[in-house]
Amino acid sequence: MTAGLGVDASAEEGAAGETGAAPLAVPVKVHDRPAFIRANSVLTAPSHVPELVLHLADEALPLWHKTEEELGEAGLPPPFWAFAWAGGQALARHVFDNPDLVAGKRVLDVGAGGGIAGIAAAMCGAAHVRANEIDAFALAAIALNAEANGVAVEVIGGDRLGGPAEADVVLAGDIFYERPLAERALAFLQRAKADGALVLIGDPKRTYLPTDVLEIAATYEVPVPRTLEDSDVKKTRVWRLV
Ligand SMILES: C[S@@+](CC[C@H](N)C(=O)[O-])C[C@H]1O[C@@H](n2cnc3c(N)ncnc32)[C@H](O)[C@@H]1O
Repeated sequence: MTAGLGVDASAEEGAAGETGAAPLAVPVKVHDRPAFIRANSVLTAPSHVPELVLHLADEALPLWHKTEEELGEAGLPPPFWAFAWAGGQALARHVFDNPDLVAGKRVLDVGAGGGIAGIAAAMCGAAHVRANEIDAFALAAIALNAEANGVAVEVIGGDRLGGPAEADVVLAGDIFYERPLAERALAFLQRAKADGALVLIGDPKRTYLPTDVLEIAATYEVPVPRTLEDSDVKKTRVWRLV
């Protein structure tokens, strides 16, 4: 199993189980996600975005296994929240370099992971930032990361790709790595654009990135962990939906 994302080849409950009932013979784990995140990550500034800090992990697989142990479940999604993906780093870099894009605006970070892009927007004066994720650990990580950077980010759970974005600016970092997600995300982002939003996508050309409806806003060389990617640096673009 690998937590890495595909790239287009043509592109370069308490540990003691507090149930309120009689003590159990077999302890039931409580899923204290903030405690789990704090215990399994280090507050670190991503190399391409030193302005902020995130709870990040060194390696995906041990953390993935620990998450499955914590929940007593197999087949969970990878711990995306624990890494600053190339696309998210590029987006956050672009926001810090161009704060006017978000200042005073309602911003939505969709597929937020640890919230890197939304937190950057909040630090750059966005009027209101929401970060959306389907992973409960990511939601907890976003809250911890926003707090660590002293900014407010509204965390919204659940799959919202069928609804409206209700934002002036939509940020999408590294979400075009699976076909079904990519197709639904594109439809969501196109509706947001039709409703007047500026849609910015950070992406190193993952397999399902729809480049035919995108224009390049900026290009960065983003350092990435070799354990997740196939190189130490990834040419990563911020794309504007046209
Ligand atoms: C590769 S990670 C990128 C995270 C972050 N944007 C970054 O660049 O660091 C993709 C994220 O999309 C989230 N995701 C997948 N499907 C989603 C959906 N339907 N709605 C919201 N988030 C979703 C995953 O849980 C994962 O955290």
